[in-house]
Amino acid sequence: MSKEKLVIFDTTLRDGEQSPGASMTKDEKVRIAKMLEKMQVDVIEAGFAIASPGDFEAVKAVADAIKTSTVCSLARAVDADIDRAAEALKGAESARIHTFIATSPIHMQYKLKMEPPQVLEQAVYAVKRARNYTDDVEFSLEDGSRSDFDFMCRITEAAIAAGARTINVPDTVGYGEPGEYGAMFRRLIENVPNSDKAIFSTHCHNDLGLAVANSLSAVMNGVRQIECTINGLGERAGNASLEEVVMSVRTRKDVFPVETTIVTEHIVPTSRLVASITGFPVQPNKAIVGANAFAHESGIHQDGVLKHRETYEIMRAEDVGWNTNKIVLGKHSGRAAVKARFEDLGITFDSQEALNAAFAKFKDLADKKHEIFDEDLQSIVSSSPSQQEAFLLVEMEVACKTGQAPHAKLALQMRGQDISCESDGSGPVDAAFKAIEKVAQSKADLLLYSVNAITQGTDSQGEVTVRLERSGHIVNGVGSDTDIVAASVKAYLDALNLLESPSGFHPQREGV
Ligand code: KIV
Ligand code: ZN
Repeated sequence: MSKEKLVIFDTTLRDGEQSPGASMTKDEKVRIAKMLEKMQVDVIEAGFAIASPGDFEAVKAVADAIKTSTVCSLARAVDADIDRAAEALKGAESARIHTFIATSPIHMQYKLKMEPPQVLEQAVYAVKRARNYTDDVEFSLEDGSRSDFDFMCRITEAAIAAGARTINVPDTVGYGEPGEYGAMFRRLIENVPNSDKAIFSTHCHNDLGLAVANSLSAVMNGVRQIECTINGLGERAGNASLEEVVMSVRTRKDVFPVETTIVTEHIVPTSRLVASITGFPVQPNKAIVGANAFAHESGIHQDGVLKHRETYEIMRAEDVGWNTNKIVLGKHSGRAAVKARFEDLGITFDSQEALNAAFAKFKDLADKKHEIFDEDLQSIVSSSPSQQEAFLLVEMEVACKTGQAPHAKLALQMRGQDISCESDGSGPVDAAFKAIEKVAQSKADLLLYSVNAITQGTDSQGEVTVRLERSGHIVNGVGSDTDIVAASVKAYLDALNLLESPSGFHPQREGV
């Protein structure tokens, strides 16, 4: 069976970032974008340029850094959004503007307060305006899966005639069901006279857990682009997960009439990078990238796999980037080996100083911990200081004794000044956070505190995520250390630094 190309459009940096608390800094976005490029993702949606100055800078930085993937910015169907997207994408080798307007009766009536003919006119206007900047224009019918079919046909035909090359019909609220959503695409493609001039695309949300199933059903009905995210990150319950979509198509070649160009060996390292940057850990039983995805617990399964792997395994762990040779480096490893391993993980350094700093952290860690795994190397860079360091840990002392309240005493540098603080708490972490708050007085609410062992064994580093919210701004601080109280303090200070940094948070977005 000859295969058609399935375009993989990754929106981790845009819709993924819309997960509450998953905001990423410009540098973090560039790091993830470079991994996506290495994975040969076709289109990287880098953000929503008009949403905030931070978003604009991030789209621009990704556009400047990426050479082989197309870089895209989202834009509502209005002049200012389209112009801002074009401005951010100026440096891209290949740029796409993705403009959208809602087409469902409920969105048009209550959100847009527009009549269908006005919406159609606005869509055509927006596509034409975007085409002044680039030939590669995508048009999305927001809440498409709940839109009137005849209206969808008319607006799709008009958008293609105006120059849209990709037509995306999102299941914005995750309401679709695979049979119905797939059939809708078939009818749409059959009924729109100029449908052969565009690629049809899916963008599915996972509110009912059907995002991947809906996306694949669409592919069986003529769709040739899937919008998806690493680890299924995204607004509310998330988007279709890239790894599940890609591995389904690859594993079930007998079923799907399409193929992707994704280098699947980069899937697991990219998943880990996204998890550690966003502080959204991957559940152990998550398909493809969960820690247990290839672990066989039952004796019957283990026996079967040992005798003949395919008895219980439909994919090979190494094909998606699970490293079967887990031990990587130790305290005698040299700078060149460490640098090479960082590069294998998609981590590069802009300057010699940055490499030196990472190498120094590696040596520190190797003194505490015998074996350094890939996860440890990733934590070294993900816990690199935020751009603006208002708060720094200098020293810490924690006392815990049975029958006594735990006590923490910290020396900090706060906006350049040496400060000490101390407090009791219900546990050592609570005591340390209370001590910091005595001097920081951040007025932020703690939304999440989570500890995750990065690797196995009691000498594993703990990776801590602290999510803070202040006046609607949500940030995730990440810290890692073999001492989990120290990791917690680092994460808390990282979050405070992000609250202080303009690129660390994003104003709530309207209308998306
Ligand atoms: O879910 C959605 O409809 C979107 C569009 C803006 C593409 O994210
Ligand atoms: Zn979406």
